Amino acid sequence: MSTLKQREAPAPDLPSADQPAAVCAPNIFWHPGKVSAAARSRQAGQRGATVWLTGLSGAGKSTLACELEKMLIDAGRAAYVLDGDNLRHHLNRDLGFSPQDRQENIRRSAEVARLMNDAGLIVIAAFISPLRQDRAMACGIIGADNFIETYVSTPCQVCEERDPKGLYAKARAGLIAEFTGISAPYEVPLYPAVVLDTDCLTLQQSSRLLFQHLAQRRN
Ligand code: ADX
Repeated sequence: MSTLKQREAPAPDLPSADQPAAVCAPNIFWHPGKVSAAARSRQAGQRGATVWLTGLSGAGKSTLACELEKMLIDAGRAAYVLDGDNLRHHLNRDLGFSPQDRQENIRRSAEVARLMNDAGLIVIAAFISPLRQDRAMACGIIGADNFIETYVSTPCQVCEERDPKGLYAKARAGLIAEFTGISAPYEVPLYPAVVLDTDCLTLQQSSRLLFQHLAQRRN
C-alpha cells in the first residue's frame, strides 16, 4: 500500500501539526513521517507552545520576547523568538503593511511557529498583528491548545513618546503610510490569555509572568 496520500482527511492518530492541509495544490502529495508530535515532546521534555505577543510598535514586544527566551533557555527549555521586524528581513521581505500583506505576514509566520511547536520548541512570536481576524487565523494555524495570546497593552501615547525607531515621528509627518495606531487600526484583543502593560510592569515582572504561565501548562 502506498504511503503517499493526496487531499485526504488526516488519520486520527497522525500527530496534530503533521497533517495534510484540507485543500492543497494539484499533484502535491503528503508524505507521513514516523515520529509523532508526542514523541518529539517526550524527547524535548516539554510541550511546544507559541506565546503570541501582539501590541503596537514600541510597546515592548521584541524586548520582552528576547528576555523571556533567555529566561527559558537559562531554565533548560528550548525556545525561539520569531520577531516581525526580523522576519521581514528575509522570509517576509516581499511584504509591506497593507491589510493583505499583514495578513500574509501573519499566515507565514504562524505556519513557521506551528512547525517549531511540532518540533517541541516554545516559540515567542512578536508581531503587531493588529487585526482580530488575523490573530484568529494564527490561532487556527497553530492550534488553540498551543496558542497563548498575550496583549502587550502599552498605550499608544507611551509608544509614541518612546518612539525607539523614530517611526511615529515619520508617520506623523506623513512619511509612512498605514502606520499602526496613527493611520492604520489596532484592534485590542477581546479575550487574551495574558495582558501586560510594559509602562506599569518591569521587564523582569512581565517575563516572569509569562514564564509562570508557561510553567503552569507544562505537562
Ligand atoms: S504586522 O502588522 O504585519 O504584524 P510586524 O510586526 O511584522 O507588523 O512589523 C512591525 C514593525 O515594522 C514595526 O515594529 C516597525 O518597526 C515596522 N513598520 C514599518 N512600517 C510600519 C507600519 N506602516 N506600521 C507598523 N509598523 C511598521
